[in-house]
Amino acid sequence: MMKDLQDKILKLKKEKDIGILAHSYQAPEILEIADETGDSFQLSVAASKLPQATVIMCGVRFMADTVKILSPDKKVILSHPQATCPMAEQIAPEQVVAYRAQHPDHKIVAYINTTTQLKAVCDVCVTSSSALQIVSRLDAQNILFIPDRNLGSYIKSQIKDKNIILWDGMCPVHASVSVQDCEEMKKAYPNAKVLMHPELPPEILRYADYIGSTSGIIHYALECGEDCIIGTEKSIVDYLRIQRPDKRFYLLSKQLMCANMRLTTLMDVYQCLTGEGGAEIVLDEALRLRAKHPIDEMIRLGQVPSGK
Ligand code: 13P
Ligand code: SF4
Repeated sequence: MMKDLQDKILKLKKEKDIGILAHSYQAPEILEIADETGDSFQLSVAASKLPQATVIMCGVRFMADTVKILSPDKKVILSHPQATCPMAEQIAPEQVVAYRAQHPDHKIVAYINTTTQLKAVCDVCVTSSSALQIVSRLDAQNILFIPDRNLGSYIKSQIKDKNIILWDGMCPVHASVSVQDCEEMKKAYPNAKVLMHPELPPEILRYADYIGSTSGIIHYALECGEDCIIGTEKSIVDYLRIQRPDKRFYLLSKQLMCANMRLTTLMDVYQCLTGEGGAEIVLDEALRLRAKHPIDEMIRLGQVPSGK
């Protein structure tokens, strides 16, 4: 049944010449029919290189917006109209503008998990895989980092010679992991490596053997010799178990499920292809151009080998 639907999708996307991008948090059956998969940074770069005139983004809204910002002539469809990242709106653009007026010498760094309106008032975007490189290369001593205080605090812990001010936002999924979860998992699987996403709070990251983006975690987990405890969305564990049935992968906490990332089904992708589903991204041109600047800066400053 699932295979039939996948075959229909592959046939239709070829007939209509439509590209499909999928974030690593998508279900395995969606990753299988995508042209490009990866973390937020890899998808941003891939988006501008896809040859097709129409692209379906399987993920959440800010990812589809990023594709449209970089490729305004393409028709960009978000796989599920309700798929949004709650962290993307945890600061209003007016608050950024007010901060800038009070701190004209500060650069404003936005996690890519932000709305287009927010990007339009920031200096540079970062993703979890590119943040350390970009912030350390940034020509500024004083930085406001929005909106994720956990990713911001991880960057701050690694880059000690800059003054990094944190906004008080967070990913509700990653922030739900407790110290008790870590203690229990370490006790249950003492020889497993602990791999964590930097959206986890600092008191949780203390337990990590490796900290990185979703692609970084996948790469490390597939390459290392040990079993792994995975501290990010459950979909990564599902993916790893398919790739390496000989190894054991454990989810750090059962809270690690992002309802928004899980909204898209294969049927949604099919309906995007038939024109019955999804949400086409439409952006005001002046807004798009303002939001493009920090993304271009991110790509310029953040080119890193994939999987890091
Ligand atoms: P990545 O930068 O690892 O793709 O993370 C995106 C995200 O939404 C994590 O919660
Ligand atoms: Fe947003 Fe967190 Fe879901 Fe990522 S896991 S899309 S940051 S809510």
